Amino acid sequence: MFRRTRFAFACLLLTLACAVAWAADGPGKAAVSSAHELATDAGVEILEKGGNAFDAAVAVSAALAVVEPESSGAGGGGFWLLHRASDDFSVMVDGRETAPAAATEDMYLDEEGGVDRDRAINGALAGGIPGAPAAWVHIAETYGTLPLSDLLAPAIRLAEEGFPVDAKYQALLNWRAHVMKRWPETAAIFMPGGEVPAIGDTIRQPDLADTLRALAEKGRDGFYAGEVARKLVDGVQATGGLWTLEDFADYEVVEREPVRTSYRGYELVTAAPPSSGGIAIGQMLEIVEPFDLTGMSRADRVHVLAEAMRRAYRDRALYLGDPDFVDIPTGMLLSENYAAGLRTTLRLDRATPSSMLAADPDRLGKESSDTTHFSLIDSQGNMVSATLTVNLPFGAAYVPPGTGVLVNNEMDDFSAKPGEPNAYGLIGFSANAIEPHKRMLSSMSPTIVIGDDRTAVLGTPGGSRIITMVLLGILDFIDGNGPESWVSLPRFHHQYLPDEISIEPDALSDAEIEALEEKGHTVTVRNRTWGNMHGVMWNRETGELEAAHDPRWNSGGAVVVDIDAK
Ligand code: DON
Repeated sequence: MFRRTRFAFACLLLTLACAVAWAADGPGKAAVSSAHELATDAGVEILEKGGNAFDAAVAVSAALAVVEPESSGAGGGGFWLLHRASDDFSVMVDGRETAPAAATEDMYLDEEGGVDRDRAINGALAGGIPGAPAAWVHIAETYGTLPLSDLLAPAIRLAEEGFPVDAKYQALLNWRAHVMKRWPETAAIFMPGGEVPAIGDTIRQPDLADTLRALAEKGRDGFYAGEVARKLVDGVQATGGLWTLEDFADYEVVEREPVRTSYRGYELVTAAPPSSGGIAIGQMLEIVEPFDLTGMSRADRVHVLAEAMRRAYRDRALYLGDPDFVDIPTGMLLSENYAAGLRTTLRLDRATPSSMLAADPDRLGKESSDTTHFSLIDSQGNMVSATLTVNLPFGAAYVPPGTGVLVNNEMDDFSAKPGEPNAYGLIGFSANAIEPHKRMLSSMSPTIVIGDDRTAVLGTPGGSRIITMVLLGILDFIDGNGPESWVSLPRFHHQYLPDEISIEPDALSDAEIEALEEKGHTVTVRNRTWGNMHGVMWNRETGELEAAHDPRWNSGGAVVVDIDAK
C-alpha cells in the first residue's frame, strides 16, 4: 500500500515536472506578422536586443503608428491581448479611446435630429481621447524588460528618416484625400505638394518623431501632459473639438480579463468588452458547435455560419457597450442554454429574416476601411495579438499643428442615434450611446487559440467584418490548417442588418450563391476584398513556427526568426 502510494506520488511529481517544463518550454524561435515589413523589422530588432514579446509588441505598435498612418497611430487606440508563458497568464490591455468629458449623447445630431455624418467622422470633433501611447507605456512598464526609449527608437528613426509610400497607403489616401486637404497641416505631412504621393515616395514625420521622443523621455507625461498635450488640445479646440487637458490627465488604460471559451478541445482567449468581438465569437461558436460544418456542402456551411452571425450581431447591437457603463449579460450570451435557444430558431433549409429576430428595421450598410493587426510569439512562448486603430483611414484626417499626430475618428463607433447605422452599417442602442469618459464599442478581436497540439495568434482590421473574419480563421485553424490558409480564406459576412450575406469577389460559386438564395438569403457580391489578417502558429508537436500576412495587400511582413531570447 505504502509502496503504491510512493509510486503514485513519484508519478505525480514527474507529471508536474513535465507540465512545468512544457509550460516553460517555448518554441526556441520567434515569429512576427504585421501589416508592414518595417514594423515587423522593428519587432525583430527588439527581440534581437533581448526583449521579450511584450517589448517587441510596443516597438511594432509604435512603428506601425509611423509607417501605416492610415491604420493606427499615437492619436488612436487598440486592444493588446497578452499571454505570458511562465505562469500561463493572459490579459487584455484596453487602450481604447474615451469620449471627452464634454461629449453629449446628441453631439452629432443636426437640427432635424439626423446624424451629421461629416462631423461624426471628419475633423477634431470626431476624436476620442487617444489610448495607444498610454498602452505602450503600460505594457513596457508592466510586462517588458527593456527601457521605453529602446522600444520607441525604431519608430522615432522611421519618423525622422521617412518610409516609402506603398500601394495600400496610396489607395486609402486616394479615398480620404478630399478630407485631408481641408487641413494644411495634414496635407503637408501626408500629401507633400498637395498631391497623393507616388508609390516609393518618402513620407517624413519630424513632428511625430519629436512627439515620440517626448514619450520616450518622459513616459506617459510626455504625451498626456506638458507641451505635447497642450498642442494636441489647442489644435483640437481651435477646430471645433472637445478635448481638454483634464481629459488627457484622466485617461486610464484598463487591464481586462479576456473572454475565454472553448471549442472542440481548443481554449479561446479573446477580446473582452468594450470589444464586442470575443463575446460574439464565443456565441457564434457555441451556436454552431453541434453542426458537422466540415461534412456539409459549402452552401450549407455558409448558411449555418451566416445564421449564427446574424444572431450574434443582433445581440451585439442590443446588449454590448463599455462594461464600465453598462451591465453586459456576458454569462447569458456565452451560455450553452442561450445558444441552444437561438439554435432552435435556426432552420437548415431557410434563412431567418432579421426582421423576425426583433430589434430594428432595415438599414443600409457600407464598406469598411482600415485599422491594423499584428501577431507575435517569442522564443519562450509569450504571445501578443493586437488590433489597433484610428478608425477610418487616416482617422479624422486632422493633425493638431506641431504634433504629427492624426486625430482618430473613433467617436463614430458609438451609436450617434439609436438604430442609426455608423460607417460600418452597425446599429446600436442605449448600451453604446455617447457618454462622457465612456469607451465606444469596438469590433476589434485580437485572439489566441490554445490547443494541446497547436496554438494560433490571429486578428485583422475590417470594421464590423473583423468578428466574422476572425471566426472563419479560428474554424480553419481548428480544421487543421495553418496561417497561410487563414489569412487567404475567401470571406463572407452577415451582420444582422443589412439582412444580407456579403461576400468577397469570387468567394462563392454561382451554384453556391443560388443555393443560398433558394434558402431565402440575399447574397451581395462586393466589388472589393476586405480585411488584412496577420497570424502566427506554434505547432507544439513539431516545435515549428509559421507566420503569414494577408495576401490582399503586399505590404505585410511575416517572419520566423532564430532568436532565443532569455
Ligand atoms: O474598433 C472598431 O471596431 C473600429 N474602429 C475598427 C475599424 C476598422 O477595423 C477599419 N478597418 N478596416
